[in-house]
Amino acid sequence: MDIDITEHEEWFLSYVEREMEKEANDRGPMELKRRHTFAVLANARRMVESERPRPELARATLLAALYHDVARFEQYLQYHTFRDRESLNHGRHGVRILKEEKRLDGEPRQLAHMVLSAVGLHNSFALPGGLPGDTAFAAHVVRDADKLDILRVLDEHLSKPGPYSPTVVLKLPDTPGRCGGKVVAAALERRVAAYADLTCVNDFRVLLGTWFFDMHFAESRRQFVTDGHGLHLLKGLPDDANYGEARALLLAELEKYA
Ligand SMILES: [Fe+2]
Repeated sequence: MDIDITEHEEWFLSYVEREMEKEANDRGPMELKRRHTFAVLANARRMVESERPRPELARATLLAALYHDVARFEQYLQYHTFRDRESLNHGRHGVRILKEEKRLDGEPRQLAHMVLSAVGLHNSFALPGGLPGDTAFAAHVVRDADKLDILRVLDEHLSKPGPYSPTVVLKLPDTPGRCGGKVVAAALERRVAAYADLTCVNDFRVLLGTWFFDMHFAESRRQFVTDGHGLHLLKGLPDDANYGEARALLLAELEKYA
């Protein structure tokens, strides 16, 4: 499926360049988001290739993938964090930026609407019921593609010797010992854990593992396992009283699929 969104990709790159110039200190986190964006786009292309939606929907999906985190740059400039709770809702803010920048004015109206909905919803805990099928498809692809790359980012980061970047680990402490309550409970019930329940870096590993239950397409489940990031993140958990059971359950779940 040959969907050409080069013009949008070029705008995005120059936009990021422009935003990064405003940051006087560490631009690393913004660079990370630029790389993340293109990795998410590549993941989304893979899903679109295997699901084969009609061309207009394929285009909307890829544009939503490209633009899903467009607000991350303003968010970082203003607040120096990627935690929405401490700053702004970066999905909704992204919609605002795309409108202000008139990014979708050249696209058919329905297509533009799908892109904006998918960007606005990509970071919500779950999609609202009753979404039109096309919008739900685009949103699900972006959400799966996004999660798969967050696994990569976290696995790469946590595999390096510490200290961890507070921005990447959401300022969570990495204290060994007692932690892991609600997030572990979610894993044991085979449901997706919530960011709001994170108390430490190991909780984060578990949360990332529970995303497997939220993958929407066969291609995303396949990539989740074959990328190896999920497995590696889970194997990094201590096999102790707090985490052992969740660790074993999630690893078994992934290995079953492999
Ligand atoms: Fe995002």
